[in-house]
This record gives sequence, C-alpha cells and structure tokens, in this order.
Amino acid sequence: MADYDVVIIGGGAAGLFCAFNAGYAGRSVLVIEHANKVGKKILMSGGGRCNFTNTGTAPAHFISANPHFCKSALARYTPQDFIELVERHGIAFHEKELGQLFCDESSKQIVKMLLDECSAAGVRIAIECDVEKVEALAGGGFSLATTNGAVRAGKLVVATGGLSIPTMGATGFGYALARQFGHTVLPTRAGLVPLTLSGKPLEEWSDLSGVALPVSTHCGTASFSNQLLVTHRGISGPAVLQVSNYWQPGEPLRIDLFPGSNAEHWLTAQALERGAAEVKTALGEVLPKRFAQRFAELHLNPANKLLRQLNHAERKTLAEKLHNWPLTPNGSEGYRTAEVTLGGVDTRELSSASMESNRVPGLHFIGEVLDVTGWLGGYNFQWAWASAYACAQKL
Ligand code: FDA
Repeated sequence: MADYDVVIIGGGAAGLFCAFNAGYAGRSVLVIEHANKVGKKILMSGGGRCNFTNTGTAPAHFISANPHFCKSALARYTPQDFIELVERHGIAFHEKELGQLFCDESSKQIVKMLLDECSAAGVRIAIECDVEKVEALAGGGFSLATTNGAVRAGKLVVATGGLSIPTMGATGFGYALARQFGHTVLPTRAGLVPLTLSGKPLEEWSDLSGVALPVSTHCGTASFSNQLLVTHRGISGPAVLQVSNYWQPGEPLRIDLFPGSNAEHWLTAQALERGAAEVKTALGEVLPKRFAQRFAELHLNPANKLLRQLNHAERKTLAEKLHNWPLTPNGSEGYRTAEVTLGGVDTRELSSASMESNRVPGLHFIGEVLDVTGWLGGYNFQWAWASAYACAQKL
C-alpha cells in the first residue's frame, strides 16, 4: 500500500496550491484527481485569462453562514503574496477593473505555474483516479481505496470544489465525504449565475439578447453597480451575476436602470428642455436605443408619447419603473453555467487556522467545497489560495 504524509483529493486551484506548500514543508504529498487533467476550472476562468486575485480582497466580499471564518486565512495569505508568486514565474498581468487581476496571455500560465511548483516540491499527481472508499484508521490517518490501488494517508485534504459546471469534473464527492465523517453540509445552490425569465417577460425581452447597459442591482442589503446583459433566456452580466449570490426565486430583486441619478428630475428637465421630443428618444440617449424603445412600448401609452405629454403622475410612475425595472426572474441557469456553489461544508465545525475538522483529527477541507463563497472578481481564487495555504502550514 502506497503511504503518504498527505493525500489531497481534487487537483484544482486549492488542491494544487496546498500540495506544493505541504511539499515544501517536507511532507510527501499525493494529489488524486478524477478528471483527465488538473486545473480545468482555472483554464476556463476569466474568459481564458484567469482573474487570479483581487487586490481589494476583504472578508466582506465573501458569503458564509459563519462570516468570521475566512478572516484568519485571508489575512495570512494575501493577494500581494500571490502576485509575488505570479511575478516570480514571469507571468504578465493587468488590472481589468475594480482590483481584478488577469493574465495578459492565458490561464494556462497559472496551471503551469502550479504544476511547476508541485514538481519542484516533489508532489505526486494521479489523474483519472477515482476514490472509491475512505476510512479513518484507529491509530490515526486514513486508508483510501482508489482505482489505482490502496493508499494510506497521514492527513487527508478534501479539495473537490463545488457543483458548478459538472462537465469540468465537479462532483458532490467532498460533501458526501464530509457527511460520512459526521460533518454538516449546508444547502448548496448555484452562485454567480445568469438569471432566467419565463412567460411574458421572456417574450418581451429575449429578442434584445446581446444588449448591455450599466445598472445597479439590489437584493436585501447587497447592491452592485456594473453591466447588465440581456440574454436569450434572461439576464446576465457582472451586475446580475453578483446579485445572484444573494437572490433566491420568489425574493424581491431591484434593478435600477438609472443608477446614481434621479429619473424623475431628469424627465422633468427633459420636458422643459425639449417637450416636443418623444420620451423614448430621450431615453434612447441614456439607455441603449433598442432597450429604450422596448421600455417605452411596455410602459407608455402610446409608446411614442412626447415628453411634454407626461403629466406629473405619469412622470413619477415612469421614473419609479426606471429605478425599479419591473422584471422578476423565475430562477437561474443553475450549475450548468454557474461560476460557484453557495453553501457547502459548515465551517463552524472546522478550525479557521488549519481548516482541520473538529470532529476527525487529520481531516481538512479547503477551497470551494467549504461554505465560503466570494463575489465575482478574483475573490474565489484568492479564497482557494488562502485556505490552501492556511491548511498546508499545519499539515
Ligand atoms: P476546483 O473546482 O478548482 O477544483 C476541484 C477539483 O476537484 C477539480 O479538478 C475536480 O475535477 C476535482 N474533483 C471533484 N470531485 C472529485 C473526486 N470525486 N475525486 C477526485 N477529484 C475530484 N474564480 C475567480 O476567482 N476568478 C475567475 O476568473 C473565475 N472564473 C471562473 C469561470 C468559470 C467558468 C467557473 C466555473 C468558475 C470561475 N471561478 C473564478 C471560480 C473558481 O474557478 C473556483 O472558485 C475555484 O476553482 C475553486 O477552487 P477549488 O480548488 O476549491 O475547486
């Protein structure tokens, strides 16, 4: 039976990062990955350029039932630490917006960097290997039955990620393992995901697929100002993906098409300035033309109403609709296209310093399998690096 100090299940961002850090600390490390290659999500991330961190990372950018849990790990491995690693590997990068750092060339460079580090640290990686059974051994450690044979692990790290994009290798294995060892798994759902429309709203808007505009989205106390994109099935774009982490079907979602300005004052000023112009023409100068046209068709009678024909009450009603677009999504695109999974292994049963189970000594959970989910913008990778680093220091 092969014997390792540390066995890591999952060769994604967190698994590979933990592997070489544990390797450098003198541990013998095996990474078990069931897919035909490691780091598949890294490869497809950031539109192929991997938004590998966010320079503004703070605990407030993460959603968890235990919001304090992420603080310690994030403080001990910062975006600056990862930037230094990227620079050491000569990978050119740039800031796109809002502290989001992307590779200039390709996500492949991040995977290569992680693999080079693993190789330098003497990490063994087994791909296309499935774990069939895991047992805790009476004297400490774990035995694993895998499709490559039996393995003994002094410490076991679960880095199997979330459920999003099953075609990229996502499985619920980490959650099942957590339950096997008596851990609580908080309900999971798709996050950073496009929202869908059905029935009349879908008919009304789907032919505008491809139209994008700046909005602010609001759900509870969360709000995001960024682009919204109309799709053939609903709405997407960064402002929608961000708010999808907070929204659940049936809950109110507010989309402000006039963020940062007062639509009623604007309509009044427009009426005074050019009362003979059509409302939709004026709207078409601040919103995309086709969008303004459709908005007018749906909310004005007649659709070609002039600015001066709007009475006070109509101006007020139209302004309210511009600040709260009457559009109720019916759901989301689900795990098929979601970037992340909300919920997961309950962090209240783990040490925030080492990611170790409070129930089973030597069992650790890192990365997205945990109930820690970041906003859009490089935060999820930063959590993968930081949680993996915290874990590796204590293995
Ligand atoms: P990750 O999913 O990376 O790795 C888990 C690994 O475990 C996978 O290799 C999987 O095959 C393996 N595995 C699963 N079950 C297994 C089993 N039973 N046995 C063995 N192996 C198993 N984030 C960000 O910060 N910036 C970005 O630009 C993007 N972009 C992005 C785009 C898209 C399309 C997606 C889907 C996601 C992103 N993300 C992102 C999110 C980011 O990819 C994600 O949060 C991290 O990859 C999580 O790292 P983990 O290592 O926890 O999981």
